This record gives sequence, structure tokens and C-alpha cells, in this order.
Amino acid sequence: MVVGVPKEIKNNESRVGMTPAGVFELVKNNHTVYVQSGAGEGSGFFNQDYQKAGAIILDTIGQVYAISDMIVKVKEPIAEEYKLVQKGQIVFTYFHFASSEALTRAMIDSKAICIAYETVEDEDGTLPLLTPMSEVAGRMAIQQGAKYLEKPVKGRGVLLGGVPGVAPGRVLVLGAGTVGIQAAKMAAGLGAHVTILDVNMKRLRYVNDIMPNHVVTEFSNEFNIRKHIKTHDLIIGGVLLKGAKAPNLITKDMLKEMHPGAVIVDVAVDQGGCVETTKPTTHEDPIYIIDDVVHYCVANMPGAVPYTSTMALTNVTLPYVVKLANKGWQSACNSDKSLAKGLNIVEGEVVYKEITEAFNWEPELV
Ligand SMILES: NC(=O)c1ccc[n+]([C@@H]2O[C@H](COP(=O)([O-])OP(=O)(O)OC[C@H]3O[C@@H](n4cnc5c(N)ncnc54)[C@H](O)[C@@H]3O)[C@@H](O)[C@H]2O)c1
Repeated sequence: MVVGVPKEIKNNESRVGMTPAGVFELVKNNHTVYVQSGAGEGSGFFNQDYQKAGAIILDTIGQVYAISDMIVKVKEPIAEEYKLVQKGQIVFTYFHFASSEALTRAMIDSKAICIAYETVEDEDGTLPLLTPMSEVAGRMAIQQGAKYLEKPVKGRGVLLGGVPGVAPGRVLVLGAGTVGIQAAKMAAGLGAHVTILDVNMKRLRYVNDIMPNHVVTEFSNEFNIRKHIKTHDLIIGGVLLKGAKAPNLITKDMLKEMHPGAVIVDVAVDQGGCVETTKPTTHEDPIYIIDDVVHYCVANMPGAVPYTSTMALTNVTLPYVVKLANKGWQSACNSDKSLAKGLNIVEGEVVYKEITEAFNWEPELV
């Protein structure tokens, strides 16, 4: 199969869909890989690295789309790319169709086979191609939170680890899922006192078993949240209700109860956030302050660490890429139920019902 790796052109996206290791693996399996010149630069991979692994470098994005049976990338195609997608071409990437009717219509019109990373689903309901980005964001949340607790950037002036003779900072983590556990682990590693809340007792038992004693679990309810926000310096929002808007666990009136200069990192911002005052920010302008509480609400946190994020993403996508290239999409999806869940649009037909539901489309319109 001919596989193409275009350069991401979405604003501020420096990740790339395949590393030289991926090229090496595909070439070893007798496939041909075309990489757009400069595609990997933002993640620290250069043309010569791809060439050494066996790729052929093409100058333009148009050339890559025109020649490839399968496109492997990171973000959904943006408007400029819609016309480049070919009939019958496999496009394997994050799509998030439900958030863009224009993209959905364009991909229906293209008659391509759109396989979305975010809906590839294991039998236990976990989303293996989303998990690594939550891991990155959870760990980064503590790094960012620690930074914005510093006084020159309007924080409270607390060092999370404390020093001998001074108590450590206190971190409250809402949600003990992937983001929450990674955040708790980083905070605990810095020596902070950590409280982690969830409504899922299985998750709390797990956290209690694996974390050191200065990570304390409690059930998540309004009473406990109101109690803890008064005494914590950094709050991490890592709550998810699958397919729904995140619940507002911290309302605006609660901010007045918090320490001035306390920091909220609401990682769940991409699902609306679990804090009433959350609104999405960017890496250029990541924070704002309401009632003396610093809010960090960047919706694509992994984008700031493209080297790590690209490696983490491609580690999990590559086995599927190889399977698709070796078997073709029909046979690959027939033999792998997880991958089959990734099929969203096939040759002009929406095959993932949540997309039509998101737009209230009648089946016959599609
Ligand atoms: N901002 C970013 O760059 C970025 C990056 C990755 C993930 N995210 C987002 O982070 C959020 C968390 O992702 P995840 O992978 O950790 O999800 P997850 O499903 O692994 O964990 C979510 C946890 O929230 C818990 N929860 C649900 N209701 C709760 C409540 N009322 N109180 C406390 N906990 C509650 C669930 O029981 C679960 O354990 C998602 O919205 C995800 O999209 C954002």
C-alpha cells in the first residue's frame, strides 16, 4: 500500500502522524511511504531521518494526498485539505466529527474511508488512541499548575514540594481516571499533599492501593468539594462523563472560598470543563483570573510537548496503521473489532450513529 504522511497545517499543531520508526516498520512490510517535507520538524524528526528509514520526501501536501492509498495524520483535515482527500482513500486521524458539520459533509462528499482515532474502542470500553493524550495532559497539568502558583505570574507563591520546616503545597484532583491518576502521581512525586476525588469506588480503591500515603482518596460530592477547595492550592479538573458535557463541580460562588492566587487547571475544558468559570484558552494566552483564582484551560495541552505527544500517539496508532496497510481496511476491520469501531464515514456513508445524532440528521439525509 502507498501510505502518505502530510504536514499538519492546523494552527499551532506540531505533532506528526508517523515517526521514522513507523516508516521503518511499514517499509519492512513492503509498503511505500511518502512524507511531506518538514512534516516531522515540529516534533524533532527531520527529512533525512525519514529518508534513512526508507521514506520518500515530497514537497507539497497536494502531492502526498494525490499519491496515497492511506493518509496517516494527527488532526482532522481543515478546510484547505477537504478537496485534497481522494475517493476511496483511507484517512486515519483524530476527526471529532460531532463537533463539525462542515467537516462531516466534506468527508461524506469525498467518498473516503474515515477512521477516527478517538472512536477506536477496546472491548472494556476504553479508548486506546485517546489514553496517551490524557496521560500527557494529566502529567502536564501539575507542571503548569506548579508554574502558575508562582508569584510573578499571579499565583499564590507556593512551592508544591515545600521545604524542610515548611508544609508542602496541597493539590486537589477531581476525577481518578487517566488524567487524574497521572496528575496525582506527578504531584505526589514532587512531594505535594494530594487529595483525589471520584464517584467510582473501583477507581478510588485502585488509587488507594497504588499511591503513597500522602495521596488521600475521598468520594466526590458537593460537600467534600466545598470543604477541600478552601485548603488546597492547586485544583486539577480531570472529570469525564462519556459523550456528555462535564459536570460543573466548582461553581462561581465557590471561587471566593479559595485562597487568593490558588490555581485551577481544568483539563476537562475540551468537554466544557468541570468548573463553571472555565472557558477555553490557548498556549499563547493560557491563563485568566476570576475572583483572584488563576484559571489554566488550554484545550490542546499535549500540543505544547509535541515530541513526547507524537511518540506517545504513534506508539499506539502504528500497530493499526500496519494492520490497515497489510490487510486493507475491510479485512483489517473485519478481524479487529476495536479498529472497526473507528470507522466513522465509509465511501460517503456515515456509519457511526453518534455523528448523525449530533446533528439531528434523518438517516435518509445522509
Ligand atoms: N485539555 C486537554 O488538552 C486534554 C487532553 C486529554 C484529555 N482531556 C480531557 O480530560 C478529561 C478527562 O479524561 P480522562 O481520559 O482522564 O477520562 P477518564 O474517563 O479516564 O476519567 C474520568 C473520571 O472522571 C470520573 N468522574 C465522573 N464524574 C465525576 C464526579 N462527579 N466527580 C469526580 N469524578 C468524576 C469518572 O469516574 C472517571 O474516573 C476528558 O474531558 C478529556 O477529554 C483534555
